[in-house]
Amino acid sequence: MVPFLDLTRQYKRIKGEILSATRRVYEKGHFILGEEVSAFEEEFSRYCGVQYGVGVGSGTDALYLALKAAGIGQGDEVITVANSFIATALAISFTGAKPLFVDIDRKTYTMDPNHLELLLKHQRGKGGRRTVKAVLPVHLYGHPAEMDSIIEIGNRYDLIVIEDACQAHGAKYGKRKVGSFGVMGCFSFYPTKNLGGYGDGGMVVTNDKKYDQKLKLFRCYGERKKHQHVLKGHNSRLDEIQAAILRVKLRYLDQWNEERRAKARIYTEKLSPLGIVCPSEKRGARAIYHLYGIKTEKRDSLQAFLKTRGIETLIHYPIPIPLQKAYRELRYGRRDFPLTHQWSQKILSLPFFSEIKKGEMKEVVEGIRSFSKNECDE
Ligand SMILES: Cc1ncc(COP(=O)(O)O)c(C=O)c1O
Repeated sequence: MVPFLDLTRQYKRIKGEILSATRRVYEKGHFILGEEVSAFEEEFSRYCGVQYGVGVGSGTDALYLALKAAGIGQGDEVITVANSFIATALAISFTGAKPLFVDIDRKTYTMDPNHLELLLKHQRGKGGRRTVKAVLPVHLYGHPAEMDSIIEIGNRYDLIVIEDACQAHGAKYGKRKVGSFGVMGCFSFYPTKNLGGYGDGGMVVTNDKKYDQKLKLFRCYGERKKHQHVLKGHNSRLDEIQAAILRVKLRYLDQWNEERRAKARIYTEKLSPLGIVCPSEKRGARAIYHLYGIKTEKRDSLQAFLKTRGIETLIHYPIPIPLQKAYRELRYGRRDFPLTHQWSQKILSLPFFSEIKKGEMKEVVEGIRSFSKNECDE
């Protein structure tokens, strides 16, 4: 049996520190918006190279509240990418705005800036009210999106850029960490993420004090002082237990990301000669391999074959967001996103995490080798 992911192995590495961190919270008896959350906001925003961090209830809420803080709402449009987890688009929809989607870059599977520009030209060409207000690139699978071009296009079209960095804690584009390029960067601390808590959690990071303060109101009932509510805010806060756990794990994040990068190199070295298309890292980018996805023609039969050998795999993502039933009213079709569609038919995420054993990776490689050999023999 080769698990897709086994979080118990990571827990064993840091058990003592986790238990003492959580005990500290129980013994203080303060569970919401206390010292742990403030300290983690400070530590994680510093890690990202930005000034402020606002801990919220999830990555979805981080995106939603960031969009709200930026003033996005009914009648607005926000451009994002067809290949992402649905939460990216849902956050836009929750504000009342309409999501528009663009296709992916052939190499990195993140937003293609050329498609972004084409869509903007098309929208602006229609005349009338300028409805596109923001662009939401996603650093998918831990690979940074093409931020120089996206920021440049954003500036030219007067758009707010908000980053979905939910899968990319610690990934770099040039010398800077993701989350520090847009006016706000949004993170998820869902347990399976490279930096994951033991429950839901998220954070918005920003260099802009105005957004920091707005987000703090939005996450906590719009309350400026006790019983003084200046806007209709939400209840979406990172809790003290999660913050205490995440503070421990943040100290290991770079080491764990390095381990992932080393293991990704092993897979790539062994699988490329078999004709498998492996993830590539764009020049100047430092990916942190949240997932390791290969592209292969006979994806479904390979997945079934690996399953018979006890090897777990997953697909990220089998249905592009605009083709999901939830978005049928937008009337998108496969031909609107040919690369995303093609990718959704061919991608297979292999078992991958910092603690995966070399022997397990070998089994995966051997499984793929046997499958390829059977295919050739047929
Ligand atoms: C790209 C992306 N955006 C947004 C989210 C939403 O994060 P959460 O699950 O913490 O709400 C996720 C995580 O699942 C994600 O992978």
